[in-house]
Amino acid sequence: MTALFQPLKLKDVTLRNRIAIPPMCQYMATDGVANDWHQVHYPALARGGAGLVIVEATAVSPEGRISPACLGLWNDTQAAALAPIAASIKAAGAVPGIQIGHAGRKANANRPWEGDDHIPEGDPRAWGTISPSAIAFGANLPKVPKAMTLDDIARVRADFVAAARRARDAGFEWLELHFAHGYLGQSFFSVHANQRDDAYGGSLENRSRFLLETLAAVREEWPEHLPLTARFGVIEYDGRDEETLAESIELARNFKQGGLDLLSVSVGFSTLQANIPWGPAFLAPIAGRVRAEAGLPVASAWGIDDPQVADSTVAKGQLDLVMVGRAHLANPHWPMQAARALKIDRPTWVLPAPYAHWLERYGAR
Ligand SMILES: Cc1cc2nc3c(=O)[nH]c(=O)nc-3n(C[C@H](O)[C@H](O)[C@H](O)COP(=O)(O)O)c2cc1C
Repeated sequence: MTALFQPLKLKDVTLRNRIAIPPMCQYMATDGVANDWHQVHYPALARGGAGLVIVEATAVSPEGRISPACLGLWNDTQAAALAPIAASIKAAGAVPGIQIGHAGRKANANRPWEGDDHIPEGDPRAWGTISPSAIAFGANLPKVPKAMTLDDIARVRADFVAAARRARDAGFEWLELHFAHGYLGQSFFSVHANQRDDAYGGSLENRSRFLLETLAAVREEWPEHLPLTARFGVIEYDGRDEETLAESIELARNFKQGGLDLLSVSVGFSTLQANIPWGPAFLAPIAGRVRAEAGLPVASAWGIDDPQVADSTVAKGQLDLVMVGRAHLANPHWPMQAARALKIDRPTWVLPAPYAHWLERYGAR
């Protein structure tokens, strides 16, 4: 058996293999409520054979949505619409996960295919954004956010806890806190976004505070026997990389101490002044370093869509879990393709019987 197709046990949850579908926004919800699109999209991905399917960035409050068409978990109607999705992912043999987050100063944007830019004030779909400091991201996201008060911080933390509770009640078994990609959690950590002079800004300890407090609060609510994970950008590629990485690894150690079960290692995306070395699996060695130095299981994504490369990241001890995103949008049966490429005897075993039986018997074309 190849490394990629070994099961992964984390807490009381066992993934059937090391392939995970990372959260990918669909921008198809109304009022944060999942609909037919999501009801078909997620189970179809799960039937493709991945061990874990993580539902897209789901906002903990209305103003935390990246776009007006993002999912939410700030009310029970939204939770009720997500429950059958969690059940169908599970029925297809994958573990149902969900990412909860707050988009901070990057919130209130148009959908990517409708501009990807901030919705201007005066538009009925516009809302005010919040962030650690009143500093805009810039370029297509020029809105200056309101600097959060201590009450705002406490409210958002409570929103994370309430969303975690709803996720659990909806049947999700894997929770990912979205602390990456220049959204709110990442913004507290990043010197590009956080210039506070109170207990939430300045030193590494202070810039870590919001993330660690939110983790601690969610840990109290989220069942101990289920994996609690986070996605975090450990590097910005802004020229301060060694310093940022060292700080990120220290944060990862503190995450572990605070009860985090796995870190999904990503890029910070907090600044436009970044020079990202895009390329196949470019982040895997860095994820491997975080894994080794923080002693925490890790996942990572970004261009790991070649089965041999995916397998080698696990075999080499860089990743515990491989996130394969866009390749799954192109081909929900990517795991079967990977199994065949890795010469697994019965390549179709990753698929459910109504597909696998025929492909096994007559071959897949
Ligand atoms: C359509 C789309 C939506 C995405 N939405 C999210 C999201 O909701 N949360 C997140 O953390 N990353 C999001 N990402 C990033 C992916 O999770 C993933 O990291 C990225 O696609 C790189 O992996 P890949 O090279 O396998 O596609 C999104 C990416 C795509 C293509």
